[in-house]
Amino acid sequence: MLRQARVLDPASGFDGLSDIVIEDGRIARVGPDAATQMEGHIEGDWDLQGKWVTPGFVDLHTHLREPGHEYKEDIASGLAAAAAGGFTAVCAMANTLPVNDTRAVTESLIAKARAQEGPRLYPIGAITKGLLGEQLTEMSDLKDAGAIGVSDDGRCVMNAGIMRRAMEYASTFDLLVTQHAEDHHMTAGAEMHEGEISTRLGLNGWPRVAEDIIVARDLLLAELTGARYHVAHVSSMGSVRLLREAKSRGLSVSAEVTPHHLLLTEQNVLGYNTACKVNPPLRTEEDREALREALADGTLDCIATDHAPHSSVEKLCEFSAASPGLIGLETAVSALLQLVRHNQLSALRLVEALSTAPARLGKLAGGSLKEGLPADITVIDPEMRWTVTPNQLRSKSENTPWLHTEMQGAVIMTLVNGKTVYQR
Ligand code: DOR
Ligand code: ZN
Repeated sequence: MLRQARVLDPASGFDGLSDIVIEDGRIARVGPDAATQMEGHIEGDWDLQGKWVTPGFVDLHTHLREPGHEYKEDIASGLAAAAAGGFTAVCAMANTLPVNDTRAVTESLIAKARAQEGPRLYPIGAITKGLLGEQLTEMSDLKDAGAIGVSDDGRCVMNAGIMRRAMEYASTFDLLVTQHAEDHHMTAGAEMHEGEISTRLGLNGWPRVAEDIIVARDLLLAELTGARYHVAHVSSMGSVRLLREAKSRGLSVSAEVTPHHLLLTEQNVLGYNTACKVNPPLRTEEDREALREALADGTLDCIATDHAPHSSVEKLCEFSAASPGLIGLETAVSALLQLVRHNQLSALRLVEALSTAPARLGKLAGGSLKEGLPADITVIDPEMRWTVTPNQLRSKSENTPWLHTEMQGAVIMTLVNGKTVYQR
């Protein structure tokens, strides 16, 4: 029994005080007096005054690094990190070693996750074999094995002809097609956002137009094919403008934004801070403002972490040699709560972008606190202060810009199918 929490359920628009009763792994009852009407044996009884209860978070973009790079992360550590961050489901990107471009890899991910009894894992298969951008994968096989979408993330599908066929093929099997939008011809050797700061630091620039060009092209292809097209980690105001225009014309496309692109800028790279080297790069104040507005008005549908673990070998080195990416599962909601405190995002919209929207886009379980559904639930203490330390982190890696930073707001409990998978 979860008593007297602030229940935020974007699926119904409810934001108020309520109890939630969980029975046999499901949400049995929701209402202001739901708990007091209960009798008999009660296994867990939580007084949650001042805490938030939300649908479990769903991440459409997680790198779990298994198979192949288990020294950075593996399914066990990645799912533990997910649970600690309030995520009850994560979608595992395909840029592993070997690449998830076959039924065998997809099936092994599902089997391993099942043995963990933690958050749900949904594999995303590759669009092209080996992420090489040349030959389409057997999407029928991938879907049959349990993949929920396809993506070459880390690489962009550069060939428009192949992208068109990929969208058509994926549509046949109702797979989400997630594009890492980056014109590689324009970003060869790029290390950070192209602008004054890259010039000052002597680093190679990644112009935002390299993202916009692919988004523009893909929106045309999505219109042509009717595919379930999704833009990964939108970073530029140009992409936002293109998405807003496409949606205003009724195109059913979607997009995600990361906590780091919402909260940080190119300024954070100063000092050659490799923790802030990420692809696409952190951009300008103006881009960040456009992303925040677009998230609030729904042009950007959801928040995804792009949790990208790298070891100290890949991060404690020269900026140009460092691998791009940062971990995000365990800090996402704590970092994002500052937008709510500063009235830049409503609490209900934040929760929607972390749970209801990604669940809907991925056609996944969760995202709602409706009676009868599996109890995938996150409990948050919006005031609790904690400091991000390597010791605290469940992830095997510690490549976060928020290392040694004090956070306000913490996940205190995560339930999957009514079972506690994390408790602070
Ligand atoms: O910074 C990034 N890291 N961006 C990506 O698209 C891939 C990711 C990774 O796999 O490390
Ligand atoms: Zn990517």
